[in-house]
Amino acid sequence: MSKNTPREWSYWTENKLQILSEYLPAFNVAAKKSHERIYIDLMAGRAENVARSTGEPIAGSPRRALASSPGFTRNIFCELPQNADKLKADLHDRFPDRVFEVVSGDCNITIDGTLARYKRFSKAPTFAFVDQQAAEVHWSTLQKISEFKSFKAKAELWILMSPVSIARGTRGTNNDIFRQRVSRLYGTDDWLRVQRAKERRLITAKEYRAEMVNLIRYQLAEQLGYAYTHRIPMLMPNKTEIYDMVFATDHPAGDRIMRHLYKKAAQREPAMMAQAVRRAKEQRIARSGQAGLFELELPEPEISGEVLWQPEPHWDPSTRPWW
Ligand SMILES: C[S@@+](CC[C@H](N)C(=O)[O-])C[C@H]1O[C@@H](n2cnc3c(N)ncnc32)[C@H](O)[C@@H]1O
Repeated sequence: MSKNTPREWSYWTENKLQILSEYLPAFNVAAKKSHERIYIDLMAGRAENVARSTGEPIAGSPRRALASSPGFTRNIFCELPQNADKLKADLHDRFPDRVFEVVSGDCNITIDGTLARYKRFSKAPTFAFVDQQAAEVHWSTLQKISEFKSFKAKAELWILMSPVSIARGTRGTNNDIFRQRVSRLYGTDDWLRVQRAKERRLITAKEYRAEMVNLIRYQLAEQLGYAYTHRIPMLMPNKTEIYDMVFATDHPAGDRIMRHLYKKAAQREPAMMAQAVRRAKEQRIARSGQAGLFELELPEPEISGEVLWQPEPHWDPSTRPWW
């Protein structure tokens, strides 16, 4: 895909970004007593994005952060050089009055300079979104952000974890290099115990996904000391988790709001999924030239079949027999 081609998004991305759009104003209301509030987007994405099923443009996370009302007083968008300039120009056009900066480069390298530049705001409530694809962020980067603000409550972290993408990468041609990346994501080789358990068929693929997500939650809670962590699995139509959104906060209000939004996201997921399946079917039929030959008989979205999300505690992975 060329760097100017809009990125195509599936319904699970829209669902994730809807959580973000609802959480950011709630965060800013909860933190309104603070004069400064900081948003850090470690993987801010491209200027243009479209929905795969409809081709409609969709706002990415930087636009959502800048549109939040109330909003953050400082907004930091990190992105690789190939996308950064276009993103910056687009955001300046759309939000000429908002305070933000686009930091071009590998966020794991630029993070030290960024946090140093904002040191005078280190008491400010801070929210960091880590929208990676597989294993791009380093544990050390998460640790630096969590330590940036130690006054009262640490920076909140919202991290995409995709064991499906990690499993795929470990089977790829650059296997060793990819495995080193995953070790940098966790900051340890411990994840290889989970990997070996899957390869030896001691755990199922579903258990692998749950253990890989639990491991990062365990580290966030037990190493970085976060008071609350949650996961919400985002499901593909075959009910496999495409990825999980992992949240870490010290603040009871953050915990309460995110629980509420995770339940709403789980409630709307079946209808979004059904609509995406239906549109894909319509497009297949249209492409095959059969449209009009017969009436489409497609089921209505299954809104009664809500999968309600329930919070679950993390567990100590070393208690597993295969560890
Ligand atoms: C899933 S996309 C992010 C989408 C974005 N949050 C949005 O809502 O539009 C992941 C982005 O991370 C960027 N990226 C990957 N590795 C990175 C790194 N080490 N530092 C900064 N950005 C990175 C990619 O260029 C890509 O645009």
